[in-house]
Amino acid sequence: LEGLIVTSDADGSPRISPMGPIVDRGLTRFRLRPFQSSKTYQNLRRDSYCVFHIVDDSELLARAAVGRLDRTPPMSRTSRDTGWVLDDCCRWFELRVDEIDDSQQRVEIRCNVVNQGSRRDFFGWNRAKHAVLEAAILATRIGILPAGQIRAELARLQSAVEKTAGKQERQAMGFLREYIEVQLDSGSS
Ligand SMILES: Cc1cc2nc3c(=O)[nH]c(=O)nc-3n(C[C@H](O)[C@H](O)[C@H](O)COP(=O)(O)O)c2cc1C
Repeated sequence: LEGLIVTSDADGSPRISPMGPIVDRGLTRFRLRPFQSSKTYQNLRRDSYCVFHIVDDSELLARAAVGRLDRTPPMSRTSRDTGWVLDDCCRWFELRVDEIDDSQQRVEIRCNVVNQGSRRDFFGWNRAKHAVLEAAILATRIGILPAGQIRAELARLQSAVEKTAGKQERQAMGFLREYIEVQLDSGSS
C-alpha cells in the first residue's frame, strides 16, 4: 500500500516520506520496509511511533519523495501526542514499532496499529495519478537505475498524464520531470 509516513526527526519536527508497507486487506498489520539509508528508518530506530497516511494528493507525494516540499502541510498531533496527522489525508494509522529486522539493506519493521481515523473520501483513480506515483519512485532511484532507463520510463508515463491529468497531476509531473532532468544533468546518475 503506497502512502505517506510521518516520523519525528531528532529535533521533534515532522518528516514526511512516501513508503510502501505490506499490509493485510483489513489494514490491521503493517510491515514497513525502509532502506537502511533512509531518515525514516533512523527515526523509527529512535522513536517507535509514526503515522501512515492514505492520500490522493499526487503533488504532495511527488515533492515529499525527493524532500522538496515547498511548505509544511497542515498537520496536528495525535491524541496521545506521539505523532503527526496530516490534515488533508483520506485515512491515517498511527503505528507502534513491534519488531525490527535490519539484517538486510531493506529493513523490515513490523508495526501494530494503535490509533486510526478517517478524514475524507479518496478522490479516485486516474491514470495520471498512477503515472506520478511511478515517476516519483523513479526520482528516488536516480543513481541506482541507469539514466537512459529513467528517461525512457518517464517518457512512457508522460502519455498517461497528457491523456488524463487534472491540474494537480500536471503540476506534480512537471515538477518531477524538471527535478529528474536537473539531477541527471548534474551527473549524479
Ligand atoms: C510511492 C513510493 C513508495 C516508496 N516506498 C519506499 C519504501 O517502502 N521504502 C523506502 O525505503 N523508500 C521508499 N520510497 C522512497 C522514499 O520515499 C525516498 O527514498 C525518500 O527520500 C526517503 O526519505 P527519508 O530519507 O526522509 O526517509 C518510496 C517512494 C515512493 C514515491
